[in-house]
Amino acid sequence: MSTVQTSDLGVIPATLVESQRRRSAAPTGDETVATGPPPVEIRDLTVAYHERPVLWDVDLTVRPGKLTAIVGPNGAGKSTLIKAALGLVPVAAGWVKIFGEPFAEQRRLVAYIPQRGSVDWDFPTDALDVVTMGRYGTLGWFRRPGKRERQIAMDKLRQVGMADFARRQISELSGGQQQRVFLARALAQEADLYFMDEPFAGVDATTERAIVELLQELRSQGKTVVAVHHDLNTVDDYFDDVALLNVRLVAYGPVDDVFTHANLHATYGGRIGFLSGGPAETSAAVAD
Ligand SMILES: Nc1ncnc2c1ncn2[C@@H]1O[C@H](COP(=O)(O)OP(=O)(O)O)[C@@H](O)[C@H]1O
Ligand SMILES: [Mg+2]
Repeated sequence: MSTVQTSDLGVIPATLVESQRRRSAAPTGDETVATGPPPVEIRDLTVAYHERPVLWDVDLTVRPGKLTAIVGPNGAGKSTLIKAALGLVPVAAGWVKIFGEPFAEQRRLVAYIPQRGSVDWDFPTDALDVVTMGRYGTLGWFRRPGKRERQIAMDKLRQVGMADFARRQISELSGGQQQRVFLARALAQEADLYFMDEPFAGVDATTERAIVELLQELRSQGKTVVAVHHDLNTVDDYFDDVALLNVRLVAYGPVDDVFTHANLHATYGGRIGFLSGGPAETSAAVAD
């Protein structure tokens, strides 16, 4: 596979070229017939911190049962978009609905894995506890998690290959292991919609593979996943749909349609090395 070194983004994938080629192929016929309200519907969403807009007039309707990547440069508002959907940041204008209702009425249907490093896991709790906490939302008021909840939590730890670490303090796990535990916790919630903020950041290749397989498993169960993704090389491999974001939504749709040079240029500007070259250099850079 041919790749191109870029200034600060690593390597630009030759799969970009492939996806553009495939675009002209016959339709795959896997178009989902939407039934019921969309998992995520965002309208005219503007979010500002200290009166500086970090999301501007975003409209986005996520397709059900798909893996959607949110892609864009640092500070583009990707994490903020997820937080706005979860009601974690105040919205200056517009609205978000989750399966047709405000998030507050749908929280049981939603699991969220925050960006790693944004949570301080230094307090004493072990992996099994963290995953069992994911069950709280499914329990009635005042019911404490019992044997069944622990069993489910243990199953989920097993599913992510962390059963042996059930009693290990979360602070003593490596970054990749912590990420697997958080994934197990999200799985334990048995949600219909999963928001994940950079689930692959800082994990090793084995963990990355394990996460990819889990995403595919979730999709095969009809679940919807919206994940912030930072690696342009794997967008095409891992995701069905992509939302390109830089304060505004630049483009959204199936990866094959949307993950194009023009759209990436509009999203990243001159920060992608090969895109700042002339036309000849550009075509040479992405040729097989
Ligand atoms: N709590 C906050 N207070 C003030 N500014 C913030 C806060 N959170 C994020 N920002 C700013 O908002 C912009 C978007 O941040 P973020 O959504 O985290 O971007 P991304 O996830 O795409 O890197 C950045 O400029 C960031 O510095
Ligand atoms: Mg972020």
